[in-house]
Amino acid sequence: MKKLSLAIALLLAPAMAQAWPWSQDMANQVSTKPQEGADPANPGMVPFPKRSVPVPGTTTIVKDAAAADKLKNPIPADEKSVATGGKLFEIYCTPCHGKAGHGDGLVGAKLALKPYDLSADMTKARSDGFIWGYMTFGGAVMPTYGNDLSPTERWHVVNYVRKVVQQAPAAAPVAKK
Ligand code: HEC
Repeated sequence: MKKLSLAIALLLAPAMAQAWPWSQDMANQVSTKPQEGADPANPGMVPFPKRSVPVPGTTTIVKDAAAADKLKNPIPADEKSVATGGKLFEIYCTPCHGKAGHGDGLVGAKLALKPYDLSADMTKARSDGFIWGYMTFGGAVMPTYGNDLSPTERWHVVNYVRKVVQQAPAAAPVAKK
């Protein structure tokens, strides 16, 4: 009878069955776990060599948008960078900011706070670091792109915004009804 009630209890509360030792069997293997050193004498992650820098040499971590605002754009806005930025802009930014960056994307139209026109004087006056930081941290409604775009890719998008979005003729004013 005891066994039966235990079986019923497990069936009724599957979460309890998870707590039994066998639920750990797959995890407890000889394989190396994330963040675990291969050398048992030195457990823990192998530290980076002293004075190492990220491969493209760009800053990858900043504290917040204010810190990002002060960053200098390390990627020259040459043809290649602008072209790469354009491809990324089309994928990640056009849904809200629209093809030309005027804030008229199809997804953006559904938001309570409308995406800004990136060719407007306000954004023109921003620093490169500000735009980079907006992608890194997101805004009030705008999501963060810090995980989707690498730091270098974000600079390419900044270059595209500067050279294409903000150089094109301004958006035609929306006709008032
Ligand atoms: C889901 C919709 C959405 C997507 C996608 C999106 N944005 Fe935004 N963006 C917004 C909204 C809404 C705002 C208005 C301010 C806010 O949300 O904080 C904004 C504001 C901005 C601003 C601030 C402009 C200023 O001068 O204050 C920048 C810069 C910007 N977006 C750049 C980008 C870039 C570059 C991308 C592509 C990597 C992008 N956004 C993708 C919705 C979006």
